[in-house]
Order: sequence, then C-alpha cells, then structure tokens
Amino acid sequence: MIPSAFDARPKSSTRREEYHQRLDTKNAAPLWEVLAGIVTPEPRSGCLPALWRFDEMRPLLLEAGELISAREAERRVLVLENPGIRGSSQITQSLFGGLQLVMPGETAPTHRHTASALRFVIESEGGYTAVEGERTTMHPGDFVVTPPWAFHDHGNAAGNPVIWLDVLDIPIVNQLCCSFAEHYEGGPQPLTRPEGDSIERYGANMVPLEYQPTGLDSPIFSYPYSRSRETLDRLSRTGPVHPCHGVKMQYVNPLTGGYAMTTIGTFLQLLPGGFAGHPYRSTDATIYCVAEGHGESTVGDHVFSWGPHDVFVVPSWHPVAHKTTSEAVLFSASDRPVQKLLHLWREQAF
Ligand SMILES: [Fe+2]
Repeated sequence: MIPSAFDARPKSSTRREEYHQRLDTKNAAPLWEVLAGIVTPEPRSGCLPALWRFDEMRPLLLEAGELISAREAERRVLVLENPGIRGSSQITQSLFGGLQLVMPGETAPTHRHTASALRFVIESEGGYTAVEGERTTMHPGDFVVTPPWAFHDHGNAAGNPVIWLDVLDIPIVNQLCCSFAEHYEGGPQPLTRPEGDSIERYGANMVPLEYQPTGLDSPIFSYPYSRSRETLDRLSRTGPVHPCHGVKMQYVNPLTGGYAMTTIGTFLQLLPGGFAGHPYRSTDATIYCVAEGHGESTVGDHVFSWGPHDVFVVPSWHPVAHKTTSEAVLFSASDRPVQKLLHLWREQAF
C-alpha cells in the first residue's frame, strides 16, 4: 500500500527538494510535505497538561502589586502561559488565562473590548466589578461575566488584596482578526442600575414582560458561589453521581438555556470524598480552578495533586480522571460552545 500523507511525509529526493525551493520563491509550498501536520487523525494542539500552584503564584502576584499600579498596568495580571505554547499568551490553544490582582483602594480603569471575559473569584472581601452600569461585589467562588464590548472596571474598597482568575477568548478573537478595544472617556463609568439588578430581573426563572435580548450572552453578570454551591451540595446527596464528573453542572444563560457566554462554556462540579473518577476526554481543552478541597487529577501521563485555588489545564482529547479523599469543588471553562456550534465537539468516557 502507498503510504498516505496523513501518516507521514513522502520521501525526499534531490529533484523534489529543488522543486520545493522554486515553489518557495513564488510563496507556494507542496501540501504533501505538511499535510500530516495540519490534517491530523486526532487533535494535536501543542498544549501540554499544566498546573499552577496558587501558593507559588500568590507571592509573585503580590510582588507585582509592589512593582506596578493597576492604573499603570491597565490590568495587573500574570498571564498563565501553557508550557507547550510559551510566548503566545494562551493557556489553551483558544483561551487566555491569567491571575489578576487589585490592591486595597485601587481601581482598574473602565474599558471595553470585543473579547469576552470571565472572572472566577479567588480572594475578595470588598472587591467589585462593574459591567454596563451595574456593580457586583465579588465573593470567593463567584463566576462573573463580562460580555463582548461591555464597559467594565474593577475596584477594591476593602483592606485586603482581591485576586481572581481571568479567562478570555482573546485567541479566538485574534484568530478571526476582530479585536477592538477602547477606554471609557471621563473616568469611571456611571452606575445606572442598583447592585443585584440583573440577577433579580433575569435570575429568578422570570424575565421582564416581552423581553427581547440585545446580545447572545447571559444578561446575568454574576453567578454567586453561595447559590451554585448549595445546589451541588443538595444534588450530591440525592444523586446520581456521574462516574467521570461527580456532580457537574453548567452555568446557563436563562434566556436561552444555553451557555452563559457565547464562546466560553463554564462548569462547576462537586467531587464527593473518596471519589475515584473514570477517565474521560473531550475535544475542548479545559481550564480548571479549584474552588475547594484537595485531590488528584491524572491527565494523560501527568498526575497533578491540587489544592484550593490551583489552576490546571487538560488539553484537547487528553483523558482526565479525578480522585479525592475529601469533598472538593472544581470550576472549569473551555471553548465548548464554539466547538458545539461548529459541530466539532466530541467526547469519550472510558
Ligand atoms: Fe477588560
């Protein structure tokens, strides 16, 4: 059988090499030399399984608080770079991940951009984020949405640092060459709605009469951990517990029942004490942030022991199996909505 270019590059010869060089001068190249690398039998992103320990990253983040102000930095963020694609400012092939710090008394300027952002709050006693005229106080474990092109700013009115995990769809927006960004002219954006307005208006299984959405993202900006955690707790007691995922829920846009964000799927799962999950893989590379507890996740050949606020990545199509001794809660985010929209998403449980 003649080997296919899906499996390996064809053999080289002097005449072929000379031909390739002549093609090169015309900005052309033979597909058969690169086909095996670009049309792969299985996903091959270059991303590696990776873990960032919070007890190692927190002191580095606080050091940034001494080196640069939030105003000077625009956003004081340590980019979590996937070790397989260093220099790309990407935690996976499609998402940006970072740890952001707002020191007591600081505000981060009001701006907007076409990239969507989520915040998963790690430390906060009086931190807030304001989105489109509504301020939300951030509590540990809260999931906060910043839709595309929505003005937003952050602040910290308390005495302790505020830290959260940022996940943005910057690589998707840049791949499509659709990045726009601008500052809000004239200082902080005015607050036009009371705190909690969006969750009252859209988060109680009702919406205003004949409401017509203006965008695709959820109108709820903040999904409080207290409510999500209580739900997981109740469901873990009534079951069933999934053999791979424990008790796993996805955050929704109450207007559509779909994901809370257009490009980023977000999830919260409770792993009971003594859980020994079966391996599972899917095509959406997934960023995990530990909300509570300790455990261990086997990702391909890597074994990650994790504790509160650690961040780890499971690359596309890498099997992951979670294990705990005591109860743990994991927040996670991926580009699953995009993959499903394009009918590309696949999963496999073992
Ligand atoms: Fe921003």
